[in-house]
Amino acid sequence: MTIIVTGGAGFIGSAVVRRLIRETGETIVNLDKLTYAGNLESLGAARDNPRHVFEQVDICDMAAVQAVLARHKPRAIMHLAAESHVDRSIDGPGEFIQTNVVGTFTLLQAARAYRETLAAEARGQFRFHHVSTDEVYGTLGETGLFTEETAYSPNSPYSASKASSDHLVRAWGETFGLPAVVTNCSNNYGPCQFPEKLIPVLILKALKGEKLPIYGKGENVRDWLYVEDHAEALCLVMEQGRIGETYNIGGNAERQNIQVARAVCAILDDLLPNSPHRPHESLISFVADRPGHDARYAIDASKIARELGWKPRESFESGLRKTVSWYLENRDWWQRILSGDYRVERIGLGKEASR
Ligand code: NAD
Ligand code: TYD
Repeated sequence: MTIIVTGGAGFIGSAVVRRLIRETGETIVNLDKLTYAGNLESLGAARDNPRHVFEQVDICDMAAVQAVLARHKPRAIMHLAAESHVDRSIDGPGEFIQTNVVGTFTLLQAARAYRETLAAEARGQFRFHHVSTDEVYGTLGETGLFTEETAYSPNSPYSASKASSDHLVRAWGETFGLPAVVTNCSNNYGPCQFPEKLIPVLILKALKGEKLPIYGKGENVRDWLYVEDHAEALCLVMEQGRIGETYNIGGNAERQNIQVARAVCAILDDLLPNSPHRPHESLISFVADRPGHDARYAIDASKIARELGWKPRESFESGLRKTVSWYLENRDWWQRILSGDYRVERIGLGKEASR
């Protein structure tokens, strides 16, 4: 049997591919365009496993997507390919509309046509799993949690493009009978996260003794989910989630950004007793806020716990220590990224609105 994972060279997709190669006997087709965020090195040993097949394809390219489906005849598609960074979506929303909206549309059309070619049994078993974000729900005040019933209210170009894609998936299920499940998860962290998101930015800048940029007052809250816990939840939903349903996935780990920064600094102080930058907390620096910065995200993950028996294994403290250790032990992985065109510079203030 074969599963297609789109975005399998990205942060979460690579964790899913590693897990599927490790835990199943199936062939995993990794369909990825390899944008700036895609890196086959994140796959580790799975990359060279004979059951891992890499297809360098843009999800917006209908003919190429159709050819991959016809060639590999998957029983399921797990769709993770996306433009994923809010700050980039502020400077250049066009790519987000293209990949997240048009790309998802293309994939849905291709999946629908492909499913029609299957014999009755395989057609009945086929499923399309769309991976999305809690950011589609907008922002919370000081209390409350996002549930699967929370109304959509996206505030950034990124979250609006993901909300659009969620709506398309839902419509393809209702109108065309495409058997689809959707998951909306909170902020992930862990090994192989591209150094543009908060936690790797903090780690890599602190290692170099550079200032740690905290947007606004650092009071914004995110609900942190360890990426391996997320990958486990995704595989479970792909297998056992009820068609037509949405499942929220969260880490039960709400933290203010300033708390996250202090926690990273404390772990670095501990792991690097001879660092000239200790105490790393002295590097924290408050900078201009992100436009449209959502105040708080927090997930009620009781549905997936109740229906599928999933809950996160890592606490924020254990997951963060593993993450910081991973970046210390895998300098090659990020040094190759930093030597390219991305250099942990501040983006997302909306000054490059033409793209
Ligand atoms: P990522 O940016 O690390 O990886 C995205 C991957 O998609 C890359 O490998 C990239 O090459 C590929 N890709 C981009 N455009 C493509 C295209 N047009 N065709 C084919 N491949 C393309 O993203 P991530 O953090 O791993 O996120 C994966 C999914 O999870 C996304 O759909 C994202 O919206 C969602 N999500 C992420 C988080 C998070 O905290 N990282 C939270 C909630 C939801
Ligand atoms: P990020 O990792 O970009 O994820 P998202 O915007 O999808 O939640 O940001 C997480 C939080 O950290 C968010 O509130 C913005 C903030 N942030 C900073 O304070 N400094 C930074 O350098 C970055 C990248 C983010």
